[in-house]
This record gives sequence, C-alpha cells and structure tokens, in this order.
Amino acid sequence: MQSGLINGVDISSSIFNELKERIAVLKSKGVTPGLAVVLVGEDPASQVYVRMKGKKCEELGMHSLTITLPEDTSESDLLKKVDELNKDGRIHGFLIQLPLPKHINEDKVLNAMDPRKDVDGFHPFNVGKMLIGEPLFLPATPAGVQQMLLRSNVDVAGKHVVIVGRSNIVGKPMAAMLLQKGKGADATVTVVHSRTNNLEEYTRQADILIVAIGKAKFITKDMVKKGAVVIDVGTNRVDDPTSEKGSRLVGDVDFDNVREKASLITPVPGGVGPMTICLLMANTVKAAEMSL
Ligand code: GUN
Repeated sequence: MQSGLINGVDISSSIFNELKERIAVLKSKGVTPGLAVVLVGEDPASQVYVRMKGKKCEELGMHSLTITLPEDTSESDLLKKVDELNKDGRIHGFLIQLPLPKHINEDKVLNAMDPRKDVDGFHPFNVGKMLIGEPLFLPATPAGVQQMLLRSNVDVAGKHVVIVGRSNIVGKPMAAMLLQKGKGADATVTVVHSRTNNLEEYTRQADILIVAIGKAKFITKDMVKKGAVVIDVGTNRVDDPTSEKGSRLVGDVDFDNVREKASLITPVPGGVGPMTICLLMANTVKAAEMSL
C-alpha cells in the first residue's frame, strides 16, 4: 500500500485565497493588516523564516515591517521595541522570532506584548484562553495541522491521537487544541516525548500520529499502525552530497518507508511548513478585523 499525500501547499493556497477576500474587505474600510517581525541576532534559519514572512505579507498586500536587531541587544532595548509595537496603529500583529539570545529572558519579552497583537499565540493570556477553549489566537503550527486534518476530511473525534514532542510551540498546544469539544477536535490525546519509556508502544496505537520531536527520521515504519494518518512537523537539515546545496530538508518521519504503511501522510518539505506561515497570516488578518 502507498499512502495518500496531504499537500500543505494546496491547502494553504486555498486558505490564502480566503484571506485575500478578507483583506480586500478590510482595505475597503481603510485598514491594511500589518505584521511586524522582530529578529534578534543572525541565526540563519530564523533569517530564512523572517524573510518568508515578509515576502508573504507583500504577496497578500499586507503591511510588513521587519525589525532586525543585533545579537547583543539588551533586554531593556528589546522591551522598548515591544512597547513601540504595542502602540503602533499600523501594526495589528507582531512576533518575536524565537529562540532569543541567551541573555534575554524570553518569558519577560512575551509577557510584555499586548495579547491582542500576539499573533503567535505565545503570550500566557493566549495560552490560557486556548486551554479553556476560548481561543483568541491559536499558535500557527498546531492550528495549521488542525486545518490540514479538517480540510483532508480526517475526523479526529473519538480517535486516538498520539503527539510525539512536548514543546510550548507545537506539542503542548496541539494536545490542548485536539482535546477541546467541537469541530476538528474531540480526540483522545496521548503526548509522548524524549523521556517516555517504550515510546513505540504508544505510537503504534495511534490512529493519527503527529510528530514534532526535532530528530531526523525518528519515526520508522515499525512504530506506526497500518492505516494511520501521519503528520510530520519536523524540518531537519541533513547532509546530502548528491544535492547542489550539499544538504536537504527531512522530517521527523522516515517518509519513504512509513508511506507504505500510513493511509495519509504529509511530506517534508511541502507539508506542515506552508501551513504555519498561512495560519500566522490568518491570525494577523483576524487581529486587523478586531481593530475595526
Ligand atoms: N521559532 C520557531 N517557530 C517559531 C514560531 O512559530 N514563532 C516564533 N516567533 N518563533 C519561532
């Protein structure tokens, strides 16, 4: 058996089309949704993500502001920048690209953001709202995964979803979202992680397996139940002397082998990746709509 693919490029493109209509309505009312991205330091992966976010804003006709600060920026200078963005009327949403340099307290910076502009959904206020099932902004990656499942007609209600990874950005919010009552949720959720004993005993029970552990090809064929739906959130750069760049991106799932066993699977690249940026833009449009 070879599984079907869940194509993140196609799904995100239909969501982008929906967003374009909402942006047109906003513009007709004199509002151009604005997103600011703050990057501290020169982490190459973060630079790529930040550029992609700016480019997508331009494509959608949104206002975009990229603020690049040097690695040695002090915490108080970054807090001042947050305060400016909180007050900037042209900016409806902003985010601080993570990780931050070690000398800056991430929690302190996230806490200083206006939760109504926190389009990443990382402020404790938004984390709490999500947990009680009254979300304002859902974090983009798990929200993107939920949309992929919904739009691929994968009904998670009553199913056993096993999430591999417990980060604040993916694993924990993903579990909270799928546990809620309602559309795209009502799942039975298990979270496993790097300290779980006999992790494969859990992954083999998954009707839907969501993997965000940050280890290339961590999930092998023997760890997956036949017919499972497999969502791979991982993006790991590995050496590949046969490619022009000398490296390529692979997920946390051994795609070629797991594909023979899963009913549906997401590729890397072209799976969850495009959904993340898409849901970030959706949150920014929502923030602009809230400002009306
Ligand atoms: N670093 C990795 N993923 C993310 C994300 O979704 N948002 C921010 N701000 N930083 C990240």
